[in-house]
Amino acid sequence: MNLAKSIMKVPMKQNSEQKCIVKITKSASETEDFAEEFASTLSGGEVVLLFGDLGAGKTVFAKGVARALGITQDIKSPTFTLCCEYFGKSLRLKHIDAYRLKNGDEAEACGITEDFGARGVLTLIEWPEQIESALPRNCIKIHITRISDTERKIEVC
Ligand SMILES: Nc1ncnc2c1ncn2[C@@H]1O[C@H](COP(=O)(O)OP(=O)(O)OP(=O)(O)O)[C@@H](O)[C@H]1O
Ligand SMILES: [Mg+2]
Repeated sequence: MNLAKSIMKVPMKQNSEQKCIVKITKSASETEDFAEEFASTLSGGEVVLLFGDLGAGKTVFAKGVARALGITQDIKSPTFTLCCEYFGKSLRLKHIDAYRLKNGDEAEACGITEDFGARGVLTLIEWPEQIESALPRNCIKIHITRISDTERKIEVC
């Protein structure tokens, strides 16, 4: 299956005919590979929401996205710093962890929402449900669900 092509067919806007892509991965490296393939279909300006429980694999997914952008630095969860920025070959990656934020107002007050959707910026947000009111309308939603110690279900909508 050519995943990149099928992802590109997924409409970015929510609508009744929207289809999700579902992928089961059997290791962290498979999740990274899937994320890399997914990110290779993006061109900047996207806001990608990463939903999933603690330890689901959101940061692992972010590592694969960073690899697709040509970022060689180690991607660490920005749980305490809220936001980390990395410069890829042609895009800037903004990796946000909203776990410690109380609501959308708090996200806006600390400035992390300023370049949501900006050209040349790919934004990844872990725990987006914490800052729902500050999120732009047309986001790509990714749900990661733990099936077992090593298996995850990843849905891209
Ligand atoms: N198939 C898999 N895909 C992703 N991670 C996996 C998989 N199997 C096992 N893991 C492990 O699950 C853990 C996922 O950790 P990760 O930090 O990415 O979670 P997270 O969703 O970012 O959590 P948090 O909400 O605490 O930030 C890692 O230790 C990783 O090795
Ligand atoms: Mg994380």
